[in-house]
Amino acid sequence: MTQMDAERIDIKKLLSDLDLEEKMRMLSGDGMWHNYAAGELPEVRMSDGPNGIRMTEDSSLAALPSVCYPTLGMLANSWDPALVYNIGAALGREATAMGVNLLLAPGVNIKRNPLCGRNFEYFSEDPYLAGTLGKAYIQGVQSTGVGACVKHFAANNQESHRMYSDSIVDERTLRELYLKPFELLMEAEPAAVMCAYNKLNGEQCAESEFLLKKVLRDDWHYRGVTVSDWGAVRDRGASLAAGLDLEMPDSLGIGYDSLAAALADGRITESDIDAATARILELTDNVYLEPYGDYDSDAHDKLSYAAAVDSIVLLKNDSGFLPLTKDMRVAVLGEKAASEEMQGGGSSHVTPLKSLTPLDALDERAISYTYGKGYSPDKKENARLYDEAMSLAVDADAVIVYVGAPTPSEGVDRSSIDLPPEQDALISGLVGGGHRVVVVLASQGPVRMPWAKRVRSILYSGLCGQNGALAAVDVLYGRVNPRGRLAETFPVDESELGSDFGGSRVLYRESLFVGYKYYDAIKRRTLFPFGHGLSFSEVDYGAMHAKRLDGSSFDVTVQLTNNSVRDAYETVQVYVSDRTSRVLRPEKQLVGFIKVFIEGKTSTTATVRLDRRAFEFWNTQKQCFSLCDGEYKIMVGASSGDIKSEMSVKITGDFTERIEYPDAYKMPIRSNITDADFAALLGHDIPTEQPPQKKGEFTLGNTLDDMRHCLVAKIAISAAKKQAKAVAPIGSVEYQAFMTAATQTPLCAVAAMSNGAVSVGMAKGIVEMANGHFFKGIKLMLSKSDNNR
Ligand code: BGC
Repeated sequence: MTQMDAERIDIKKLLSDLDLEEKMRMLSGDGMWHNYAAGELPEVRMSDGPNGIRMTEDSSLAALPSVCYPTLGMLANSWDPALVYNIGAALGREATAMGVNLLLAPGVNIKRNPLCGRNFEYFSEDPYLAGTLGKAYIQGVQSTGVGACVKHFAANNQESHRMYSDSIVDERTLRELYLKPFELLMEAEPAAVMCAYNKLNGEQCAESEFLLKKVLRDDWHYRGVTVSDWGAVRDRGASLAAGLDLEMPDSLGIGYDSLAAALADGRITESDIDAATARILELTDNVYLEPYGDYDSDAHDKLSYAAAVDSIVLLKNDSGFLPLTKDMRVAVLGEKAASEEMQGGGSSHVTPLKSLTPLDALDERAISYTYGKGYSPDKKENARLYDEAMSLAVDADAVIVYVGAPTPSEGVDRSSIDLPPEQDALISGLVGGGHRVVVVLASQGPVRMPWAKRVRSILYSGLCGQNGALAAVDVLYGRVNPRGRLAETFPVDESELGSDFGGSRVLYRESLFVGYKYYDAIKRRTLFPFGHGLSFSEVDYGAMHAKRLDGSSFDVTVQLTNNSVRDAYETVQVYVSDRTSRVLRPEKQLVGFIKVFIEGKTSTTATVRLDRRAFEFWNTQKQCFSLCDGEYKIMVGASSGDIKSEMSVKITGDFTERIEYPDAYKMPIRSNITDADFAALLGHDIPTEQPPQKKGEFTLGNTLDDMRHCLVAKIAISAAKKQAKAVAPIGSVEYQAFMTAATQTPLCAVAAMSNGAVSVGMAKGIVEMANGHFFKGIKLMLSKSDNNR
């Protein structure tokens, strides 16, 4: 049954039947995962789901079992919109079976810096790739009737200070980079858009009229619902005035009171309330509401395997050392080989239907091996494991070393791209001893690889879901031909990542130059370039052609020949470079791609269509995309660092002037771009940071961290530390995630999301005490009411 067959909601009638209080109540959630449905109306059930359905009743991570697919960060390595569509559709089917109507996915934020703790949930550093895959994912989910809620809108690129960090971005960069993926996927008409936690250019995204009205509604004609990230709302009245329809989760009456105050002082009107209510009703009307059927868990398990095969990337393979053969004597080393890690931490974490360690996977494929744990953070234990590893390696034809950085988690940025030193030391020791080493990088995101030149092969298996370990073994042993291509650059080290990351106010000085565009611009070598990935086949590129279809659209074709007997997949990437450079431009940018299958010993033609969008830039004066008149280079490559052929084309554009930029942008090394240079790019002074609140000024929108100098906050923080210690060892990613959630979340959101551990009365009491009203605070804290109603 589709929703089309069900009785439609008469929105007009309902709006006139519902009283004002009821409509205001509808603008905040009911519990953690439902909207509030007045009267007989059905509720919309929401659930996280980027790489699997997280069906849970509260805010805990203990969810019902579901299929765990590769994280979106790995899935992007497939460069395959059809596969991503299928994953979206599978998630949609699982969602309907579990009674979920709105999936809180995908996340399409740009990977601005490899240290961002949530990069594993995001597709790419490139907006075209992120937007194209995001669109496919949404189309897949929504093909089942379930709604998709794309997130986090916008410029949400770090986890430190995640609820209030301020991203300062110039307008062109915003339009061409950070908003671009969202704009591209608007074609899929996502049911909802989730605003981000952070501020953008001084304004909380939940209260940004620029984002929620100007960009979404006026420029992109978006008609769906805008939803807050969980606990992102500080001032519900201000957020409604800015265009935020639904606050999530239930703010226990705080949002309602704020709406009432805003209505009373004229900041919002009843028609603002009606408009938001109507959109929420439309959402209710548009998504499936009844759980139906079951899903075929075997078929979905197979899909998760296929997706893992497509997502894994073979980074290096000297003289065809891989694939290994079953008759080789193999030593497997590394604690990561005995680990069930397959996904990241935080809201995307699911309870997988099954889990397999790499050792289990080797057993399942009947491969014999010897195993040693290889390394340990404990020095003494590490010395013993190192010696054991060296002796295991002696008799081996190949040594497979599983390594990896700590599992990433929402709420915590990575502290470095280094692997734990004992892991590097093990690999260096093995290659120093002349062993043939295959490194499997079983964690997600770029790492520094000081030993990269000396090992035979490197396989990036990342966090690839419940079949990731099996898929990696199948690549190592040649059961499948690897085909993944990196959706992000692997830098050599952190030296050029810059300091503008992780603070509470972040200047995006590098502007358009993110990822490969940055390394191109500063002429710096990378460890592995964006788009890179090997297979066991040798594919030759013939000459390219660009057939003009009209003024600025082209069919770009290239002949591909698979010289080996093995069938292969090749991802042809098309980049464009603006030769006339009337405006600041990256040296090249991705504008199209296609993944093609080529049977062994055959040839095929790959065609990529480019349209006007491939050449445009955001014209800040005219407030629209414009086309520069001039000469462009169209390039075809196997990666951003491996351009196979190129040709020049002339395009007649509407923009014939020239815009000057500060000299620093000729070689935009972040640390060389001064405040004055960046201000020139912004077109105004760099906004100054708001001074921190003092005693007497705190509200429920403040965090314990804001109040850390007050005694009551000190006590609450040390209580949180005690609890965190009970959850995970001090210093671990889990410990840090817990502490971030407890101390860097506004108190109104803590009350809404702590499953009753902190009531609204307690939160209000803390604020009063921090403001110096001790007895009033105590009274509130002791009040029995656990919410505001
Ligand atoms: C995350 C969102 C997620 C929401 C609900 C937030 O902390 O930022 O991505 O959808 O929680 O779990």
